[in-house]
Amino acid sequence: MSMVFKHNGIGTDGIDRRLSVAPMMDWTDRHCRFFHRQLAPSALLFTEMVTAEAILHAGAGRFCRHDGAEHPLALQLGGSDPDRLASAIEAVAAFGFDEINLNVGCPSPRVQSGSFGACLMAEPELVARCVSKMAQATDVPVTVKCRIGIDDMDEMSGLDRFVDAVASARARIIYLHARKAWLDGLSPRENRDIPPLNYSRAGMLAERCPELDIVLNGGLCSADDIAGATQGRQFAGVMIGRAAYKTPLVLADMASQIQGTEPASLLVLGEIMTGYARAQMADGTPLHAITRHMLGLAAGMKGAKQFRRRLGEEARVQNADPALIMDTIEQLVAVNEKSVA
Ligand SMILES: Cc1cc2nc3c(=O)[nH]c(=O)nc-3n(C[C@H](O)[C@H](O)[C@H](O)COP(=O)(O)O)c2cc1C
Repeated sequence: MSMVFKHNGIGTDGIDRRLSVAPMMDWTDRHCRFFHRQLAPSALLFTEMVTAEAILHAGAGRFCRHDGAEHPLALQLGGSDPDRLASAIEAVAAFGFDEINLNVGCPSPRVQSGSFGACLMAEPELVARCVSKMAQATDVPVTVKCRIGIDDMDEMSGLDRFVDAVASARARIIYLHARKAWLDGLSPRENRDIPPLNYSRAGMLAERCPELDIVLNGGLCSADDIAGATQGRQFAGVMIGRAAYKTPLVLADMASQIQGTEPASLLVLGEIMTGYARAQMADGTPLHAITRHMLGLAAGMKGAKQFRRRLGEEARVQNADPALIMDTIEQLVAVNEKSVA
């Protein structure tokens, strides 16, 4: 199985976009990203979406703290006011994000009422103005994440028109969730599953716009899925959401097949995460805020249920010891070695 990406995935900005982990609210916080980094040493990681207004009201520190190991790291912003977005970018400058991404794909009603997210696909000129202003406020690439359309928008002409507008504002990189968002009637969760995936539409866009880098997102659950969806198409890379979170070892496999990286072994991972948890706990972070992102680590292995239960429950007790991470991983490794022997 081979996976070939346009210009080997390295953009003119030097960032390797062959593999990204998608922005996911409540999931891809800084602890999750630190964990993912151990599994996918070169993948581009994304923050959860943060609104420009939240940054401007509550201050950047609350949302932007991260560990140096998380780089390359993109900040995803939500908003639709070009000046406010630019001000938010200025406010986060000191945090050194490698890329700023504008969310034009989120279908949540809360987001729609703020008039940003997926509903902006119906307003390409406004998105272009946002991107243009944002790019003036930073030296790092400003990129867009969107769907192939919304509601009854034509998937062919509507997407082309949207992308042309964004490209005219000199955005060069588009993360494309290859399904529509149906804003009327579906919950955000349903909107991630029910509108059909259309990889071939995404492929057509990549072919039509060779000057852009199109990163394919949506429903990619294994390296085989990626090979199938990208074969013969001109994508710059893939972005993985739920599969990366729910099955972290699949993320490690994708990273090694796409980027040739070696993930930490389970025992080394245990050591690293235990040390990380110890340091974070000294700053007041509860252990489960870190371990909750690790519960899928054993997915598909013997003892997965017990691993999940112990790590899930014992991390929540008062004075939980970070050594729990190493303990549960050692137990997992032992059970699986026994079954191999
Ligand atoms: C829990 C959750 C939260 C999400 N939050 C965001 C978000 O903040 N911004 C965004 O652009 N997409 C968000 N998404 C969508 C993902 O980035 C991704 O586009 C989608 O899940 C499809 O990719 P997948 O099939 O690989 O999961 C979220 C998805 C999930 C499951």
